Amino acid sequence: MNQFISVHDINNIDALVQLALQYKVQPFKDKELGANKRIGCLFLNPSMRTRLSTQIAAENLGMEVIVFNVGQEGWMLEFEEGAVMNGSTVEHVKDAAPVLGKYFDILAIRTFPGLKDREEDYSDVYIKQFIKHSGIPVVSLESATLHPLQSLADIVTIMENLQNSPLPEGIKPKIVLTWAPHIKPLPQCVANSFAQWINAWGQANLTITHPEGYQLDEQFTNGAEINYNQDEALKNADFIYVKNWSSYNEYGKILTDDPSWMLTNSKLKNTNYAKVLHCLPVRRNIELSDEVLDGTNSLITQQAGNRVWAAQAVLSEILNPHPLKGS
Ligand code: CP
Repeated sequence: MNQFISVHDINNIDALVQLALQYKVQPFKDKELGANKRIGCLFLNPSMRTRLSTQIAAENLGMEVIVFNVGQEGWMLEFEEGAVMNGSTVEHVKDAAPVLGKYFDILAIRTFPGLKDREEDYSDVYIKQFIKHSGIPVVSLESATLHPLQSLADIVTIMENLQNSPLPEGIKPKIVLTWAPHIKPLPQCVANSFAQWINAWGQANLTITHPEGYQLDEQFTNGAEINYNQDEALKNADFIYVKNWSSYNEYGKILTDDPSWMLTNSKLKNTNYAKVLHCLPVRRNIELSDEVLDGTNSLITQQAGNRVWAAQAVLSEILNPHPLKGS
């Protein structure tokens, strides 16, 4: 694997999930794989889970890790081709990325979208410029449109729960991705990515529910059922993924903050005792109620814990001279 920015970089999701689950049992089994290798984790935006889980994952593989908060500590980067740099940007990515390519064996980058210009955000120009100019493998720690390490951890978590409580033979789990209210306009990345991965995985029936106006980009949701009625969508759900996102069509806007979309215990009654996921951080009692987050249906801590094993599986595939069959 030469890069990890979307599900399209993976041929065999199941094999990668199984590798992640192996690392969960034996974190140090490939301690030699990353010996004398260095990963640079660049953050143009804040993070807790992605930053720490990727660092732990790399260290479990024996790598040296350098974290650089570019957004706070680095020179402000320019990404526009042909830019006349007479404003606030100090260094062009065309100059910075090749230098980073000399310092590191793998580059991992987090960049959020501006949520102002959809075309620019959805071109994922920031991460693509690092891929183009660094000359080394690049891992997305969340880009303007996708969050693939999160999605892999989500499937690992769903798989673990299915292994512990199997459904009848031949029955696919029903997974519902539900929009939730929020006070700030958030990117569509997590929802896009989750839909993309579940559709590519092919081992679940995906329903997406949201108020009208919150349709996601069809390139990610194709294959999922869309239902604007949350109560109907939640019926018989086995897993519910809760996430806010701002409008894709009226780009970056909040169209409603209707609190009736917040998941509560009473909404779980018509489900198949659904397990609840959220990528975190979560705004309690806005996005998700205390009673659900603190209840027995919640998988949020297990899910965040699995970020380590997902990251470790991906990094090991990049480092491994004998990668997984089909990857
Ligand atoms: N879920 C997630 O990406 O968390 P952080 O923003 O804390 O990394």
